[in-house]
Amino acid sequence: MSRRTKLYEGKAKILYEGPEPGTLIQYFKDDATAFNAEKKGTIAGKGVINNRISEHVFTRLAHIGIPTHFIRRLNMREQLIRQVDIIPLEVVVRNVAAGSLCKRLGLEEGEPLPHTLIEYYYKDDALGDPLVAEEHIACFNWCSHEEMHDISSMAIRINDFLCGMFAAIDIRLIDFKLEFGRIYDGDYSRVILADEISPDGCRLWDMTTGEKLDKDRFRRDLGGEEEAYREVARRLGLLNGDDNSPGEVFDLSHHRSRLRPPPPIKK
Ligand code: TMP
Ligand code: ASP
Repeated sequence: MSRRTKLYEGKAKILYEGPEPGTLIQYFKDDATAFNAEKKGTIAGKGVINNRISEHVFTRLAHIGIPTHFIRRLNMREQLIRQVDIIPLEVVVRNVAAGSLCKRLGLEEGEPLPHTLIEYYYKDDALGDPLVAEEHIACFNWCSHEEMHDISSMAIRINDFLCGMFAAIDIRLIDFKLEFGRIYDGDYSRVILADEISPDGCRLWDMTTGEKLDKDRFRRDLGGEEEAYREVARRLGLLNGDDNSPGEVFDLSHHRSRLRPPPPIKK
């Protein structure tokens, strides 16, 4: 890793130069931050799990026609991705009231929303990623009208797909964050899904018990974050190589999960 040229280091990932032009290597760290990095820590094994979960989710999204930056996973902590020009927006999709939405509007956490909400936050650490309206996005030309249309329609399709994917493993998808980037083809550019989808940027609640299986365990000092991330991977069938990915064996079975096992799948 160290022999590679580091291009960017973020809070949870590092980007290295890729083997070919137009590619990058995305390295997943165990570092965790919250509240614009005011709170810092590590979640042991998180990078390995997030790399694997994100690979799984991006691969499945590609199967339903969502273009993504993911090319292939290289090893436990790295994946090869397409280099994109990142659009400076965090796109948050919400199905159920939680987190900052509750704080801002005085809602009760866990209240289902009348319909799915999409929010946009301007990616700027110095400003604390402020919530912005589509008018701001257009006014400051962070992306074009056509790109906004592509982003919002992809976000809705991704949400529909992920809600089903998680419901099948007894997990309720409360909300999640997406990032998009541009790739260029001559004079044209198009928007593709970038970054990652993992329990770092999603709220995932056990459908039966309501137990949190995501980074809120770290944000809110609930404990059990390692087990929660592993539980999500386990339910997705990604532990111990049981999704037919040879060579990828996370033998974490010696870590007994403190979380309740899911109910048996009814056929
Ligand atoms: P919020 O309720 O704190 O605004 O978060 C909404 C969703 O976005 C939640 O699933 C966590 C995710 N998220 C990130 O991935 N990165 C961030 O910096 C923040 C604030 C939220
Ligand atoms: N990415 C956020 C941070 O700035 C943390 C969060 O996900 O809440 O540290």
